[in-house]
Amino acid sequence: MAVTTTVTGPACNRVRVGQLKQVNLAIAHLQPRTGITQIGATEVLSQSQHTAVESQSPPGIRNDETDMVDGGDDIGQGLFSCLKVHFRLYYAPLEAQTLHEYRYTITAPATMNPDLSKLQPYPFEKLAALKAGCNPPQDLAHIALSIGEPKHPSPEVALKPLRECLALTNDYPLTKGVPELRKAIANWLQNRFSLPAGAINMETQVIPVNGTREALFAFAQAVVNRSDEALVLMPNPFYQIYEGAAFLAGATPYFYGTTRQNNYQPDFDAIPEDVWQRCQLIYVCTPGNPTGAVLSEAELVKLIEKSLQYDFVIASDECYSEIYFDGIKPTGLLQAAVNSGHPDFKNCVVFHSLSKRSNLPGMRSGFVAGDAEIMKAFLLYRTYHGCAMPPVHQMASIAAWNDEQHVAENRRLYQQKFDAVLAILSPVCEAQKPDAGFYIWLHTHIDDTDFARRLFDQKNVTVLPGSYLSRTVDGQNPGNHHVRMALVAPYDECIDAAHRIKQFIETL
Ligand SMILES: Cc1ncc(COP(=O)(O)O)c(C=O)c1O
Repeated sequence: MAVTTTVTGPACNRVRVGQLKQVNLAIAHLQPRTGITQIGATEVLSQSQHTAVESQSPPGIRNDETDMVDGGDDIGQGLFSCLKVHFRLYYAPLEAQTLHEYRYTITAPATMNPDLSKLQPYPFEKLAALKAGCNPPQDLAHIALSIGEPKHPSPEVALKPLRECLALTNDYPLTKGVPELRKAIANWLQNRFSLPAGAINMETQVIPVNGTREALFAFAQAVVNRSDEALVLMPNPFYQIYEGAAFLAGATPYFYGTTRQNNYQPDFDAIPEDVWQRCQLIYVCTPGNPTGAVLSEAELVKLIEKSLQYDFVIASDECYSEIYFDGIKPTGLLQAAVNSGHPDFKNCVVFHSLSKRSNLPGMRSGFVAGDAEIMKAFLLYRTYHGCAMPPVHQMASIAAWNDEQHVAENRRLYQQKFDAVLAILSPVCEAQKPDAGFYIWLHTHIDDTDFARRLFDQKNVTVLPGSYLSRTVDGQNPGNHHVRMALVAPYDECIDAAHRIKQFIETL
């Protein structure tokens, strides 16, 4: 048996060369690799609105000055990843709109879940390809601001139980975790979000998870009723797990923009009625990755009202909620629910993590909390999925959720880095302190991939192009002209990186 899938995607512009840039204008041919049994018709969905000025390299510019390795793009994922599309290359004026969409069908043996073919390459794969062929100066040590992996030391308060409870490896853990852990989590939620005593029922409203990534993914599998109609809403730009979760749950992602024009806030009023009707689940990310924007309580309450009107679930990813500045704590969804008269948290679920709060990304620990009905279904799903938290991690998590001292120290380190880095960068660019979180979401005047590639090439600093964190919707990609910088490296490295970025921007 064989399956056929339709792939739609943009063929994007390539590298800038002088006053021209290389663009892919037309699909020249599709070259199958192993495993592909048939390639169907290719349909061009939209053409770039300009004429090419050159079909050969402009005089004096060699092909090897571009990033085209062999003139093709690897496309299709998972089952269909073994395909290469070759484009005809041209050069066009810099200002030309170069987005070019194509669609074609490919057929491969049906050995796997066809939804796997919808998964996009992870941003870091694209980044590695972007950096290929660069020649950064060897006298400058590499500084990575691209990955959001906390680097401050893990706190002793959690490391001690990790060392001391190793004997617990003999016990199978319960999916819902030990009562002491659920109690620590319920207490933490109540204190942190000023909820009334007893607001969180630790028996029915809390589930420990192995980091929010797996939970955000698994959650969609448990709550989505798969159908052609089903929509899962998510911000754009966004944390890519939301999209993969929607695809594998048999739904279609719908992206709502969080753009510069809108101060990186979503505009829930602009989402059409028929979208709300088809919405089964919406992801919000507050504080946002990559934007750092925090949703106000009023905005969260508006969303809760919509969820009650149209009956969908809100998954609020709050894993950056503890990295805030000047004592201004981000509001949470459960807080907004209680304050707006919904103490049962109907349709509301929050995701929290020890990764960023407590610098424990390798321990994989977080929790999901909220609407008891939804938690019941999610617990059932997780029991079959077999993803109980190891007992040793539960012990360390109890200690971490019960301690705030190390979290305050963590915030102090970030505040120090943000203050110093922004003092260096702000004279030359629009770098601003985020509402919360550890990213600078920098608006760039040149193309973001161009910015990232040239910065790496010239200064050996890696940042992540914003367009790798977003999807193009109606011809607009809200990540364009932005790069994400994670201030996770030690203080001195962040300062060094800021000076190099400043020097680089001054040359633009
Ligand atoms: C927005 C967002 N959500 C969730 C996660 C997952 O974090 P963890 O699985 O470590 O809790 C990340 C990690 O970078 C993230 O940026």
